[in-house]
Amino acid sequence: MKLVASGQSLGARVEDLDLSKPLSDEAFKQLEQALGKFGVLSYPGQNLTSLQLKNFSERFGRLEVNVANLYQEPGLPEVMILSNMVENGKPLGLSDAGQDWHTDMSYSSMIAFTNVLYGIEIPHRDGEPLGNTEFCNMHAAYDGLPGELKTRLAGMTITHDFAKFWDKMRREKGSSRPALTDAQRKAKPPVTHPVFMTHPITGEKVLYANPGYSMRINELPQEESDRILAFLFEHQLQSKYQYRHRWSVGDVLMWDNMGTLHNAVADYRPDEHRYIKRCQVMANRYFEQAAP
Ligand code: SIN
Repeated sequence: MKLVASGQSLGARVEDLDLSKPLSDEAFKQLEQALGKFGVLSYPGQNLTSLQLKNFSERFGRLEVNVANLYQEPGLPEVMILSNMVENGKPLGLSDAGQDWHTDMSYSSMIAFTNVLYGIEIPHRDGEPLGNTEFCNMHAAYDGLPGELKTRLAGMTITHDFAKFWDKMRREKGSSRPALTDAQRKAKPPVTHPVFMTHPITGEKVLYANPGYSMRINELPQEESDRILAFLFEHQLQSKYQYRHRWSVGDVLMWDNMGTLHNAVADYRPDEHRYIKRCQVMANRYFEQAAP
């Protein structure tokens, strides 16, 4: 395989690797290291069945079955459909997944490692791809923080809440997602994670906060927590930390959720069709104790 760096804050293209074939241990190690280093990897020109997408994804860790239990590939609940397409009045997929800055599964006590997306239909207008996916580099965001803030926040924790993103999508973005029931809220109670995490692949520090799910810095008074979180959100989204993947049909795109934030750009109309299959890989290989 050949790795071609984007030359931007994040991103590399992996060429000459057919993901429908089993991945050797050596290739796996190379990709894992590259994911830590570049944050976002794209594999153009793939032709995969859902099972092949699942098999590739599961090399990286345990696959999550999405909490909504909706839009799953028949017989393969780990493969979820993200789409704005409707057939016979029925949506084929989740139409507004990830349409604001966030990190997947920061609301879960076992956080996410990587998302693996496979682009089957990509909307275009005037020859340009729509529905691109944007990323921010959390290694660089940590490095760019003022030294006194790094010292002040070292050892502190943030509460992350699944409901924050869901409620905001309904309140501010006109999402047709149903309101979360009390039972769903109880099933996803808020969790805490360190503000700064040592990345398990690079061994470097990352800023582990995101506007989608981060609620509160637990060790600070509410007013100071609100002020510092607002600063962190503005800081981490600066354009110098950003990278944008421009989709083509047949792309597989994977990213490291521990070292990046992402945002699915909602710039296409209902008649401009996007159809993507997604697997979500948890970070259990780094954080679960080995069985005795
Ligand atoms: C996601 O947040 O997993 C969806 C990203 C996308 O559809 O571009």
